[in-house]
Amino acid sequence: MQAIFPVAGLGSRMFPATKSVPKELLTILNKPIIHYVVEEAIDAGIEEIILVTSREKQPILEYFKKPKKNELNNSINFFHKKLKISTVFQEKPLGLGHAILCAKHLIKNDFFGIFLPDEVLLENNKVIDFKNMMKYLKKNCEGQILVEKVSKKEVSSYGIVQLESPKFKSNGNMRIKKILEKPSFTKSINNYRVVGRYILPKDIFSFLEKTKTSSNNEIELTDAINKMIGDRKLNINACLNNSEIYDCGSVKGFVGANIAFSLLNNELRKYVKALIND
Ligand code: G1P
Repeated sequence: MQAIFPVAGLGSRMFPATKSVPKELLTILNKPIIHYVVEEAIDAGIEEIILVTSREKQPILEYFKKPKKNELNNSINFFHKKLKISTVFQEKPLGLGHAILCAKHLIKNDFFGIFLPDEVLLENNKVIDFKNMMKYLKKNCEGQILVEKVSKKEVSSYGIVQLESPKFKSNGNMRIKKILEKPSFTKSINNYRVVGRYILPKDIFSFLEKTKTSSNNEIELTDAINKMIGDRKLNINACLNNSEIYDCGSVKGFVGANIAFSLLNNELRKYVKALIND
């Protein structure tokens, strides 16, 4: 399966760090955020990633350039795996939906993945959420979106799904009735938010092409998905998360990820625990 990695965003929530360093290259411990997400994609069985980037974010392309032999770079494991990396430029900052549309010509199969690399997933009980989503794709031949339950006050920061039934079945997979981008909280909407992992049918491109820009001059992926579901053309399912999820596009998530990964590191665990308990 191919996966689109939209990496053209400005990273305004992490400014001034992102003034000269792309947000995807900020690090959790000593590894850039995007590196974790590429490893997650490889573990889930992704064979090609398509980076959608802007011309200002050359350091990302540098990071993915195959290194010369005998460099420290040899320790970067994704160069040794069978992973194809393609790049496409998003020439105008017209949002996530537009970024996905920029990769249209490279998508070969009926379904493709999307990984938003500011969200870092720390797997629980060895369940890789994206692998789970692929399992459901095989089972019902329908698109999948990873979701996580959030508090009411977080609803207005994310895409929010409304399920066909009020609750998830025990398998954590349920059709989506409606999806809204950053709604204000109303009782009619559950508080399951879209995590940046999607498996979508190629048909989404025709809906994206028809989607008008929102009030902030962006083409929202969420709007195109909602139209696709509403037209009863194709069903999309919500897959409930197993992982711990860190939104590293925000200071809070970024700090959380650094602490969580430190606690998994044998050399740092004791040090960090002592700091926290001080
Ligand atoms: C985007 C999507 C949103 C989703 C979020 C996940 O928002 O538009 O639906 O919940 O990613 O990270 P953004 O982070 O670009 O504001």
